[in-house]
Amino acid sequence: MERRTKIIAVANQKGGVGKTTTVVNLAAALSARKRAVLVVDLDPQAHATLGLGLEKQPGISLYRVLLGEKAVEDVIQPTKWNNLNVIPSEVDLAGAELEFGARPDRLEMIRNALAPVKEAGAFDYIVLDCPPSLGIVMTSSLVASDGVLIPIQAEFLAMDGLALITGSIDRIRASVNPSLELNGIVFTMVNSVARLTQDVMEEVRKHFGDRVYETTIPRNVRVSEAPSMGTPVVFLDPRSKGAESYKAFAWEFMAKNPTRFEAVPAPQPAPAPQPEEKVDAAASAQNAAEAGANG
Ligand SMILES: Nc1ncnc2c1ncn2[C@@H]1O[C@H](COP(=O)(O)OP(=O)(O)OP(=O)(O)O)[C@@H](O)[C@H]1O
Ligand SMILES: [Mg+2]
Repeated sequence: MERRTKIIAVANQKGGVGKTTTVVNLAAALSARKRAVLVVDLDPQAHATLGLGLEKQPGISLYRVLLGEKAVEDVIQPTKWNNLNVIPSEVDLAGAELEFGARPDRLEMIRNALAPVKEAGAFDYIVLDCPPSLGIVMTSSLVASDGVLIPIQAEFLAMDGLALITGSIDRIRASVNPSLELNGIVFTMVNSVARLTQDVMEEVRKHFGDRVYETTIPRNVRVSEAPSMGTPVVFLDPRSKGAESYKAFAWEFMAKNPTRFEAVPAPQPAPAPQPEEKVDAAASAQNAAEAGANG
């Protein structure tokens, strides 16, 4: 089958909504399913880099590629886990907004930087961890991507925040990247007993329909402890609620975004029996005879 790399930006201009946690654990769960994954940490805070067990290293980031100092292949780092690689971040990325803002190729700079990796086709997924702002790094990430995944918290004004980012997506689609898809919206840090949570989730689902992932990620203390251990929670404590939900989310993600493998069917509940269906005795006998002949 054709090897095709999908680039997915994980973005939301709002801070602290679970972008990095989603990047790290989606990537980890995909890699455990034998998908080859590259995480690109585009946030100077470097939380994705640290969460995947790597240190910040001056000179090793996409920033060096954007500056033309390094080839992209030279900044890809393996992690401790199979199929899971990362382009780390470093503090200099903080200057990117100022430094690159005047570049004529600023919109395409990340697309161009990642083009050799995409064309080589060695990865199933490249997942971009965007910083929390609608600045040039996030915009350029959206230009580079096939899809955008938006993690959100089901809280007051969630729809307003979504309108901001979907507005950006629409503008980029109308100009530089017509094939950019809203890959989906995933609810993070869900407190399922809160009435407001239920109301907000219902409103978002009503508006965005099947672009909202069925799987939601609960608030879970193991998820928040994992970054300090430099290990994704799906590896650190695979049976925790947070890990289980990220693994289920990765299944749903793969089913929606097949790459070089056949579409992965998400686990489906068994269909309910149909009591009103009449049994055609002659047809059943025929089927049984055929099954016998074939078997
Ligand atoms: N499901 C969860 N349960 C408990 N804590 C969580 C969960 N998801 C994320 N957190 C915690 O919430 C905080 C913010 O999460 P995260 O860093 O993933 O958000 P972010 O959107 O990437 O933030 P920023 O905008 O600063 O990049 C972190 O301390 C993280 O450990
Ligand atoms: Mg983050």
